Amino acid sequence: MKILVIGGKGTIGKKIVEYFSKDHEVIVAGRSSEKYPIDIADTRSIKRLFKGIKKSGRIDAIICAAGEAKWARMKDLSEADYHIGLRSKLMGQVNIVRYAHKCLKKKGSITLTTGILADDPVYKTTSAAMVNGGVHSFVQAAAIEMRKKIRVNVVSSGVVIDAYAKYESYFPGHPPIEMHKMLDGYKRSVLGRVNGEIIRIYS
Ligand SMILES: NC(=O)c1ccc[n+]([C@@H]2O[C@H](COP(=O)([O-])OP(=O)(O)OC[C@H]3O[C@@H](n4cnc5c(N)ncnc54)[C@H](OP(=O)(O)O)[C@@H]3O)[C@@H](O)[C@H]2O)c1
Repeated sequence: MKILVIGGKGTIGKKIVEYFSKDHEVIVAGRSSEKYPIDIADTRSIKRLFKGIKKSGRIDAIICAAGEAKWARMKDLSEADYHIGLRSKLMGQVNIVRYAHKCLKKKGSITLTTGILADDPVYKTTSAAMVNGGVHSFVQAAAIEMRKKIRVNVVSSGVVIDAYAKYESYFPGHPPIEMHKMLDGYKRSVLGRVNGEIIRIYS
């Protein structure tokens, strides 16, 4: 398979790239990529990358392991702060799905990334929890009407072990998720046949 991983240099993305590169051709994209630049918060940038990829041959799967949202106490979050998450993690991933048919093959797949905050929010995460929940509902609805029999799923994991030191204090009592368990979510989506699923990896 030929697989595009957006955010493939991040904590989660690099494990996805490492795993799928064993048996597949993987294209790694991100804001700082020279060859495959994309900013998911900018719709034109998404369209540009997908158009460029199509020119060198349609691909089988898109995985997005990118997307930001601002973390702060609700009383300190401005409307502009909420828009960071809305533009990046929510609409960025929604637009990937909206334009994926431009570079995906028939029966291709799209795998998005959210996180446990959608179901189990912690302090300072009203924005991040909101966009995660929005992506979950979007995926379930979008799967009903995707073109070209394209499947769409989302992986929602707890804090992964490789980022645990950074986030541990925000998640008291949450177990870190082993990287191989997190990866299982992406395997189920890309290599399996599930569609419209929120693949939760919380323990
Ligand atoms: N870490 C966790 O424990 C955890 C758990 C569950 C869910 N998540 C979610 O999973 C996603 C990835 O997390 P992570 O910990 O791997 O983050 P990370 O280490 O910060 O990596 C994020 C990656 O995405 C790219 N990126 C960021 N914003 C982008 C944008 N607007 N357009 C295109 N690429 C962008 C970054 O590269 P460039 O800077 O080059 O663009 C980087 O490669 C996030 O949405 C996060 O909320 C994380």
